[in-house]
Amino acid sequence: MSSTVAPFPEGFLWGGATAANQIEGAYAEGGKGLSIQDVMPHGIMTPRAEGPTEDNLKQVAIDFYHRYAQDIALFAEMGFRTFRFSIAWSRIFPRGDEAEPNEEGLAFYDRVLDECEKHGIEPLVTISHYETPLHLAEQYDGWVNRDLIGFYERYARALLSRYGHRVKYWLTFNEINSVLHAPFMSGGINTPKDQLSASDLYQAVHHELVASALATKVAREVAPQAQVGCMILAMPAYPLSPDPDDVMAALTTDRTNLAFGDIHVRGEYPGYYLRRLREAGVELQITDEDRALLKEYTVDFVSFSYYVSICETADPAKRVVGQGNIFGGVPNPHLQASEWGWQIDPVGLRVVLNQFWDRWQKPLFIVENGLGAKDELVEVDGVTTVVDDYRIAYLNDHLVQVGEAIADGVEVMGYTTWGCIDLVSASTAQLSKRYGFIYVDRDDEGSGTLERYKKKSFDWYAEVIATQGASLRQG
Ligand code: BG6
Repeated sequence: MSSTVAPFPEGFLWGGATAANQIEGAYAEGGKGLSIQDVMPHGIMTPRAEGPTEDNLKQVAIDFYHRYAQDIALFAEMGFRTFRFSIAWSRIFPRGDEAEPNEEGLAFYDRVLDECEKHGIEPLVTISHYETPLHLAEQYDGWVNRDLIGFYERYARALLSRYGHRVKYWLTFNEINSVLHAPFMSGGINTPKDQLSASDLYQAVHHELVASALATKVAREVAPQAQVGCMILAMPAYPLSPDPDDVMAALTTDRTNLAFGDIHVRGEYPGYYLRRLREAGVELQITDEDRALLKEYTVDFVSFSYYVSICETADPAKRVVGQGNIFGGVPNPHLQASEWGWQIDPVGLRVVLNQFWDRWQKPLFIVENGLGAKDELVEVDGVTTVVDDYRIAYLNDHLVQVGEAIADGVEVMGYTTWGCIDLVSASTAQLSKRYGFIYVDRDDEGSGTLERYKKKSFDWYAEVIATQGASLRQG
């Protein structure tokens, strides 16, 4: 017998999330320069291409660049209180190292914000979401180069000065910890991963962390009412067995990700992280000014994506690596997986929320969660739709666990489902891996009308929002 869930707090920010390169298209319009995504036609599965190729679905994506008003109106129809989107760095600074921003690019996001305002939707803006200007990757080797800090600061300043009076919530880097695993996509690092030294990789991480603190500093100066958060790919690691060595292995893996929150919240490198660097023979170039920036400009809140949990073991014979969000992990024998092999673990979301809250005591924002699945368009009572009960079940079960965490005393600011409208996948660059409440008629070959259709989950989510979660079903 299922029961209902206690209503979520007043002011809870319900909504959906996207990223520029996965929805906008118009890859060469409005003065936009190329980004690293324009040479990643198949996501992270294959090496980068020389230049843009027509098989890259992101060239058109779902054409949000021209259809944003219609799409935001649909989000409003579901009752969204917030909409997370990213700004394409190469629309604002086409090469990344110019002195002045591109006015046409800035004006586009003015129009997007106008639509949000019209519908009373609070924007949640990611400054950098896997779309470093290609020129910065090719000429500077991305974040390995310290110059990127200055270019990013100029970019963040352009955004915060222009939009700071109308955007309250800002995220500095999407899944900042993923640079360790996907250095080109996440850090614009052109050197192939297998040739990248640990020193260069951790130096790139350091540059991003300093840049993130600088964005907070700029926000304090030009938009004091703004709140700045870090964004971490959360993936709790459970020990595969109660063997203490497995428990330690799980803790070590967990800390790979937790370090990014520790530094953003506490403003300094934790001891276990410094030990890891020492053992890898890495000597970071850190200035006194870097240290001071990290310490002074810590984040207002911590946001994260959550899709999967993993297991960890110290036994090399059992270290089979499964598929996961950007990086794998040892599969959990107790869990089922999605069609893409991502293991589904709603309780893991409650685990993460409690762990982060206990550790940092900062408000938490779940800015990505959702199920990538193949959908089929059907006619129901003369209406074209998708009967996506599997997506409803996934989101329901995760939201029930968010409710449990709130009852545990965790401060949760909001929840934005990933890909509230179908978009191009980051890891596989497919459109058939659909997350949305809104179906977009476009397939993996790029064919389709780009028409939008409401799925069954559209009305379901609208009801969840309207009832503040009381319509969710427990157990
Ligand atoms: C996160 C990214 O890793 O997961 C998103 O921030 C991405 O950009 C999402 O789309 C889901 O991953 P995928 O590979 O299914 O698109």
